[in-house]
Amino acid sequence: MCGIVGYIGEKNSIPILVEGLKRLEYRGYDSAGIAVISNDSKKATSIKSLGKVSKLEDKVEQTEIDLSSIGIAHTRWATHGEPSEPNAHPHFNKNKTLYLVHNGIVENYSEIKAKLTKDGYEFESETDTEVLVQLIDSFIKKGNTLLKSVRLAISEVTGTYGIAVISQTEPDKIIVAKKGSPLVIGIGNGEHFIASDVNALIGHTSRCIYLEDGEIVEVTKDKFAAHTIDDEDIKKEVEEISVELDAISKGDYPHYMLKEIYEQVNSVRDSFRGRILMDEGTAKLGGIERIAERIANSKRIVLSACGTSWHAGLVGEYMLEQFTGIPVEVDYASEFRYRNPIVDRKDSMFFISQSGETADTLAAMKEAKRRDALILGLCNVVGSSIARESEAGVYVHAGPEIGVASTKAFTSQLVVFALISVLVGRKRHLSLIDGQEILHELESLPKKIEQILKLNNQIEAIAEKFVNAQNFLYLGRGYNFPVALEGALKMKEISYIHAEGYPAAEMKHGPIALIDENMPVVFIAPKDSVYDKVITNIEEVKARKGRIIAIASENDTEIDKLVDYSIKIPDTIRMLMPILSVIPLQLLAYHVAVKKGLNVDQPRNLAKSVTVE
Ligand code: M6R
Repeated sequence: MCGIVGYIGEKNSIPILVEGLKRLEYRGYDSAGIAVISNDSKKATSIKSLGKVSKLEDKVEQTEIDLSSIGIAHTRWATHGEPSEPNAHPHFNKNKTLYLVHNGIVENYSEIKAKLTKDGYEFESETDTEVLVQLIDSFIKKGNTLLKSVRLAISEVTGTYGIAVISQTEPDKIIVAKKGSPLVIGIGNGEHFIASDVNALIGHTSRCIYLEDGEIVEVTKDKFAAHTIDDEDIKKEVEEISVELDAISKGDYPHYMLKEIYEQVNSVRDSFRGRILMDEGTAKLGGIERIAERIANSKRIVLSACGTSWHAGLVGEYMLEQFTGIPVEVDYASEFRYRNPIVDRKDSMFFISQSGETADTLAAMKEAKRRDALILGLCNVVGSSIARESEAGVYVHAGPEIGVASTKAFTSQLVVFALISVLVGRKRHLSLIDGQEILHELESLPKKIEQILKLNNQIEAIAEKFVNAQNFLYLGRGYNFPVALEGALKMKEISYIHAEGYPAAEMKHGPIALIDENMPVVFIAPKDSVYDKVITNIEEVKARKGRIIAIASENDTEIDKLVDYSIKIPDTIRMLMPILSVIPLQLLAYHVAVKKGLNVDQPRNLAKSVTVE
């Protein structure tokens, strides 16, 4: 949450900062701001705006600003203080000579604020961040350098931060520091870029360094010097960025979400490409190869995540239990560390995260580390915190996902769980033939996804009928129960319609009371081993006049007699069905939201990576 950008070099910093913010806008869009230092006068200026980056861009265009080749910028997801201009970053000291952008939370801000207030400091905003800039100012006033002042200030902070700081007193440098919130420095020729993630660096440079927690870096246009918080020098490893500009642009699609739904033909393929060993009926996953035996001998596997990634974990649980015979548990990362979880070194824990930055998932991972479990990451974003801090792991290779509603990352997570199930299963009791069947079916998925995407117009027409719905119920059984949860999450997060997912059989234990002619019920009802049971549930809804949409098998003509609308999808084996059955639900939510005139890529109150607890 919140995106940070910085630039120092020879070019005009402002367009670089604004473009960088646009690329990070998915991290928050409550307000935006920039601060730059003029090349001639060495004076700092700041412009802020409530709302989206485009508003800031308009304001910047209407303002005369000196040419400046150093600046910092921020797009905000509000935590402390409502979205407003005074609460927007960059925050500054009284003389407006020192500016700071921050991603994270200063937990002890009241304490620091009280101390500074006693020393005569006044505050203009309600944010925790302003406290930090004033604290740095207090150290500069005692004669310290900017670097030392930042170091002394962050030593007093409890909480999380990714910060970038500029000052008129030392106008040739940006100081950045990280604890708990991501920061990356892009290395150019005679210039450096700072960003919360590599998306903002693409097209500028392909070389970067990732900051680790507790690091503080002094960045000038020609060099950077990294230190620990205790002022020891650190040598950083330069890494390559492999993402191309195309991958983060919307292309001809009206929304990133639609683009990403359509990309699933390729992203699913990319997730298994080069990872299938058909002759041996197994998978090759380089990231966990050396510890695959240890996973296969685990007493238990625990999957921990939030949101859509947690739903992927539920499907993963079904797969892993069925094909490895190892007991599996799925835990909300946000709950994990607030109990006394029974986890030890005989357990393998997978932390699933598209962004690899989700604060709750990272925190759960740290707790599991303390308890000696084998820590594995299952991330999409390469070089993200979870990927870097796990002992081993598997990238899902879905490619950049920018729409706030997760789509292609989910289906890729499921592909990876299928591969892990085959790999670990083959080390236990899974037969060659069964392993090969799963792998053959995996290979057939991209074509089947193409077939499902051809139903887009039909799904759009169905969506039209439900634009005014107040509620939705999603029901599925077995492997399709997590799909019901995911379908409901997609609907509520982008269309703001209340939606709930349930195991179909649970309906009669309560939710059935909600059913009347105004309640749309989406059944995920492919022809599988629980089909007859789901049909019984459909009958129960029909008897109470609920409006039924069914996701059904392409050869199922019987179901049409029972339901109002059916969306027919190709068959596959049970474990892989969620990869297909979720796609019509993504499209349904998308079209309902578009028809309601909502911003599907940036739904209200949400951000793509939730880096606060
Ligand atoms: O990046 P992560 O996978 O860790 O994110 C977890 C959730 O915040 C995320 O899935 C969220 O629920 C999405 N908005 C769902 O579409």
